[in-house]
Amino acid sequence: MKLENRVAIVTGAARGIGLACARRFAEEGGRVLLSDVNQEALAAATALLAGEGHAVASHVADVADRRQVEHMVQAAVDRFGRLDIMLNNAGIAITKDFMAITEEDFDTVMSINLRGAFFGVQSAAKVMIAQGQGGVIINMSSINSRLANPSVATYAISKGGLNQVTATGAVALAPHGIRVVGIGPGTIATEMLNMGFLTNDAQRRMIMSRTPTGRLGQASEVASVAAFLASDDASYMTGQTLYPDGGRLILNYVMPEQEA
Ligand SMILES: NC(=O)c1ccc[n+]([C@@H]2O[C@H](COP(=O)([O-])OP(=O)(O)OC[C@H]3O[C@@H](n4cnc5c(N)ncnc54)[C@H](O)[C@@H]3O)[C@@H](O)[C@H]2O)c1
Repeated sequence: MKLENRVAIVTGAARGIGLACARRFAEEGGRVLLSDVNQEALAAATALLAGEGHAVASHVADVADRRQVEHMVQAAVDRFGRLDIMLNNAGIAITKDFMAITEEDFDTVMSINLRGAFFGVQSAAKVMIAQGQGGVIINMSSINSRLANPSVATYAISKGGLNQVTATGAVALAPHGIRVVGIGPGTIATEMLNMGFLTNDAQRRMIMSRTPTGRLGQASEVASVAAFLASDDASYMTGQTLYPDGGRLILNYVMPEQEA
């Protein structure tokens, strides 16, 4: 067990990648506070993991609100006595033509994906610094932090900024023994794909033409990277973002067309 007795927070844990990471952290011996803005789905996810015998608790929080992020961190400390791992995973995407993006669209995406994660780093680090035993903070980025896809420009911009939260946070917190790392998944089979990344056959063909492994990733394949980064196996890694993406980022040109 890589994470025996470590205490972790996972935001956006009610479903998808967040839920898979919470489960994997718990399977590795961690005690996990699941957090999400969706109260009903969060209760169901927490009950599911508790039913599997895992040490879990839940706390409803909207990461766009800094005070709620601070309360979430305090809730983990109140419940489990400390904090060792923070996974800033909550995120949304808005699909829109670049020229149609409004001030409200821009602010909504940034407040969750970028500002929410930044204050997640800061709030978790305050507790970790006070504990004096280091810690690990993971930010859930995306391949879109590195690729230009104007139909999800606000999302891509937020994730590009998030990589800098990881990099600058890593340098700022290294003296305290806190590692800050990122994960940038490719296209993973979750409900987020319905937000516009994969809603028709043309999009599926386009994504597959850029995916050497020829299939979507599974949330569990992102969770295994999160468990590695959270563990002492990654003790000399900080500031970097790893990309479980089926080969998307390194591909030049496109893959030959395959049957769906
Ligand atoms: N699915 C993919 O292909 C993919 C690829 C790259 C990166 N990611 C990133 O992984 C993370 C999780 O994605 P997913 O595919 O599991 O998405 P998802 O939509 O299935 O789940 C996201 C969860 O975040 C929660 N959430 C949304 N806004 C929130 C807020 N303001 N405060 C707290 N919780 C909030 C939602 O309620 C939901 O439970 C996101 O940051 C996403 O950008 C996903």
